Amino acid sequence: MPRLIPALAAALTFSASLHAQPVPATATTASPDGQIVLTVSTNNDQRAQWSLSYKGKLLVAPSMMGFILTDGVNMTRGWTITGSETAAHDDTWEQPWGERRYVRDHYRELLVHFRQDKDHHERLMNVRFRLFDNGIGFRYEMPVQAAFKTMHIADELTEFSIAPKGTAWWITGGEWNRYEQVYQKTPIDAVATAHTPITMRLEDGTHLAIHEAALVDYSAMWLKREDGQTFRSTLAPSSHGARVTRDLPFNTPWRTMRIAPDAAGLVENDLELNLNEPNKLGDISGWFKPQKYIGIWWGMIKGDWTWATGPRHGATTERTKQYIDFAAKNGFSGVLVEGWDKGWDGTWFGTGWDFSYTQPTPDFDLKAITAYAAQKHVQLIGHHETGGNIANYEAQLDDAMKLYSGLGVHLVKTGYVADAGGIQAPGDGSTVGPDNVRMEYHDGQRVVEHHLKVVETAAKYHIAIDSHEPVKDTGLRRTYPNWVSREGARGMEYNAWGAFSNGPSHEPTLVYTRMLSGPMDFTPGILSLEGHDHVPLASTLAKQLGLYLAIYSPIQMAADQIENLAAHPKELAFIREVPADWAQSHLIAGSVGEYAIFARQDRNSPDWYVGGVNDATARTLDLSFDFLDAGKSYTATIYKDGEGATYLTDARHRIAYDTRVVKKGDHLSLWLAPGGGAALRLTPVLKK
Ligand code: NOJ
Ligand code: CA
Repeated sequence: MPRLIPALAAALTFSASLHAQPVPATATTASPDGQIVLTVSTNNDQRAQWSLSYKGKLLVAPSMMGFILTDGVNMTRGWTITGSETAAHDDTWEQPWGERRYVRDHYRELLVHFRQDKDHHERLMNVRFRLFDNGIGFRYEMPVQAAFKTMHIADELTEFSIAPKGTAWWITGGEWNRYEQVYQKTPIDAVATAHTPITMRLEDGTHLAIHEAALVDYSAMWLKREDGQTFRSTLAPSSHGARVTRDLPFNTPWRTMRIAPDAAGLVENDLELNLNEPNKLGDISGWFKPQKYIGIWWGMIKGDWTWATGPRHGATTERTKQYIDFAAKNGFSGVLVEGWDKGWDGTWFGTGWDFSYTQPTPDFDLKAITAYAAQKHVQLIGHHETGGNIANYEAQLDDAMKLYSGLGVHLVKTGYVADAGGIQAPGDGSTVGPDNVRMEYHDGQRVVEHHLKVVETAAKYHIAIDSHEPVKDTGLRRTYPNWVSREGARGMEYNAWGAFSNGPSHEPTLVYTRMLSGPMDFTPGILSLEGHDHVPLASTLAKQLGLYLAIYSPIQMAADQIENLAAHPKELAFIREVPADWAQSHLIAGSVGEYAIFARQDRNSPDWYVGGVNDATARTLDLSFDFLDAGKSYTATIYKDGEGATYLTDARHRIAYDTRVVKKGDHLSLWLAPGGGAALRLTPVLKK
């Protein structure tokens, strides 16, 4: 049970005012360790504002809070603080799966009550702040009130004014390719409009990431730079004009800022998970287990096969059986098959109206395949590409999930390939068809609602969801543990479409940006290191293994075609062993955008795994095994970049293998090639 200690101290102090204006008020609280101090106040215009100091220095200069509405005077001025309450909380909860088993939820809370003046209809707004030792979160809580019953939000005006200078890593908010962009690294004062999480490293080494938690029934927050290093929220648009429409009472998502002294503190940080509601689904371990899978996929991505029926159709019964056989033989529990359903012929990047979610193509015997898979103790992983047409998908959703669950399918990958703003959502509900749609953004309120509808419907049928072209993750896996993974960034697929399309620094950037939001179905394991027309990946062979440690997901693909996996038996053996579920995870070496090496302990055995990814600069790391328990020895099986390896030439295939016994206190000098990586498995040495 959460422990709440109400009203530790009256945090409201009034200061004298010479003017006949509402009395300015200030409310403050600090993180449990006292390093982060929050001040909430109103300024001379009676604007509501918040500011932060960290380790005694100003971190966030006074930053406004409020809303503009489509149908009433703004909720930006005329505020008075009418009261505040404090509380404290400290407990630990268990994740059903994840990067770590136990999560500590330790914070101090400040709830501030605001009231607008008579000219602004005396509206009420509460803001709840939670301060953790490694970040803060706050949300607006809109109570029932006389002034209005429904809030039509034209935009939310939450500012983040970063005081110290620094560098930012970010992608553009609202652009056509959604989140599938190469990250930009710029001074903070050169950011334009960014998606979150946006990561910043300040001049004194402090690491920040601004994001949000529990994005439910609301539009996603983008960050627009106003001036200098001041950002303000701007919500993803809606076809309804008001970007968000909500009846009172309601709470907004949490606005979050991770605050850490170093890169490890940024990454090993459960701020957003802690700000989400506990598990609503109960124990799902009977139907979802972390797993590794293969699929009829890379062959389509690189153009050998097609999603459409025809002579090169990928999803045939025969090929699927071959993949099931390979999975059974090599310890994979699932086989993803895309292009299995009718309607994907011709222009699949089209309108999505032809897509059926229940009828297989004639050359794909769904029933026979699922029966064959069951015999081999392998599961078919389902696929629902929508082409961004959620109107057509929602109309078939229940039938589609029912069909799969009846056939023993417990994991479904979804897809929303359409440009930003190109989601076709149901219109007024009277008919389903192209003449009755509303166009929405992938992260607007209606699509946010759609994703939860899919996850909740899937849960009813004991199905887990892996969404591609999704809305960003905001920690909802805590509440809905069947929402197991997403894409939501440039995945492996881009490497098939152009040489070095995801450059060598892409993955070491993802670790500190996209990955802060939650698991990613990146789809590592392209052991051939090539895509369409043999274009090379910006990766060594060892980096493909390092990705399993760097980019967390409870479902991990071995994404290459099976003949390429089979051609690399040693690497395949590592992929077979590496877990997708961890007792603990630590970033033991790393720098944003440059390299990232993790040590992760298996949740189901005493084994540890170490590994990660490098950018274009070769480097030698001095890795310490201090994370191991004292007094135990481990056999380390090492996969590392071979001498002279580089992503730039055919030397990307050079890999070296090594074995040695290590214990706490030992060090390993590890060379990482340009575009390289490494992976180690540590198993306890059994005492004779
Ligand atoms: C884009 C997804 O990211 C990819 O994995 C999938 O194969 C295609 N869409 C088709 O659904
Ligand atoms: Ca994609």
